Amino acid sequence: MPREEYVLVCISCGESYPREEVVYRCRRCGDLLEARISPGGVFRLDTLIGRVHSMWRYRELLPSFFNRIVSLGEGYTTLVKADKLAKVVGVREFYVKLEGLNPTGSFKDRGMSVGVSMACMIGAKSVVCASTGNTSASLAAYAARAGLECQVYIPEGKIAWGKLFQARMFGAKIYQVAGSFDDALKRVMARGGEDAYILNSVNPWRIEGQKTAAFELWEQMGGKTDYVVALPVGNSGNIAAYWKGFKELQEHGLINDTPRLVGVQAEGASPIAEMLTRGLESLPDWPNPETIATAIRIGRPINWKKGVRAIRDSGGTAVKARDEEILDALRLLATTEGIATEPAGATPIAGVKKLVEEGWLGRDEKVICIATGNMLKDTNEALVSWNKPQKGD
Ligand SMILES: Cc1ncc(COP(=O)(O)O)c(C=O)c1O
Ligand SMILES: [Zn+2]
Repeated sequence: MPREEYVLVCISCGESYPREEVVYRCRRCGDLLEARISPGGVFRLDTLIGRVHSMWRYRELLPSFFNRIVSLGEGYTTLVKADKLAKVVGVREFYVKLEGLNPTGSFKDRGMSVGVSMACMIGAKSVVCASTGNTSASLAAYAARAGLECQVYIPEGKIAWGKLFQARMFGAKIYQVAGSFDDALKRVMARGGEDAYILNSVNPWRIEGQKTAAFELWEQMGGKTDYVVALPVGNSGNIAAYWKGFKELQEHGLINDTPRLVGVQAEGASPIAEMLTRGLESLPDWPNPETIATAIRIGRPINWKKGVRAIRDSGGTAVKARDEEILDALRLLATTEGIATEPAGATPIAGVKKLVEEGWLGRDEKVICIATGNMLKDTNEALVSWNKPQKGD
């Protein structure tokens, strides 16, 4: 008997599908699917003591039906208290979660551990994704670990060098697409996964792994939820995953209230922030996304419905940051706290600064920013141009 029972459920019409069915969109209405679990039991703060230091410590709320879990020890990342940053930004407490400490240097590893395990369970021989860089680096690593063939589609010339290096090192077949991430994803989705299992965040098993970061915040903050969580938003799968994690904690009676979630987008790629600030009912067209934060250079977020729900239902908000503001936030984080991240990971700090200035965030708030990717993935000169090395004697 499996410990838990999972089904895939459409977020619009409620149609359900068996957990092992390979389906990326509802066959009835075309909308996104979500994995739903009815657990036999749930972890509590004290039952977690002594468990494995990875996201699999929350096993009661994760799939347990795999013959084989493909893991590299992902999750359980450090949460650093940043007192100097709190002073500069003007809030009571400030924390940064270091998702760049994951095995391939980004939060994507959480989703890939579950997603690639699922690929193995259904007998896939090959996996595929479109990527702004981190997804391909992570999928390539987990596919190698699982012995699967891996194909990745990336926007030509638009991903950080370190991420391309990772996908090459892990032996993925790499296809460069003229255009943006959105064009690369269209290419992957058009083929419908006929020859390979699709592991973009449209695949609900990715979100299932990524939701564990919310469990970690709950554990790291001593079971409390009296804070705001700010995240960079591209496809909006990750913010949806955090929301799913907090909702599950609430459904199981482990928390009463949920944190508010703040989605931060780069101004040149901000359809979700635009939609929410203008009160639109659907996503505006965004044909040419552009930003220095290449990880979130996305004009048509595939998970926008889930992301918008996460922001609205949590009582949060969405905000835009200009590239100069993102660079300033990165420099501030690095030079005041000794913590750095790739540019996308600094956008939440830029967003939080704005929200304090605008008064949406009060001086008494506790804020957690998610630094989603490792600094060494993107060593673009523009990120450090303010600090020119000088000639020594
Ligand atoms: C470093 C980093 N931050 C944030 C994001 C955005 O996550 P999502 O697309 O789930 O919104 C990505 C996605 O590629 C990323 O690589
Ligand atoms: Zn449906």
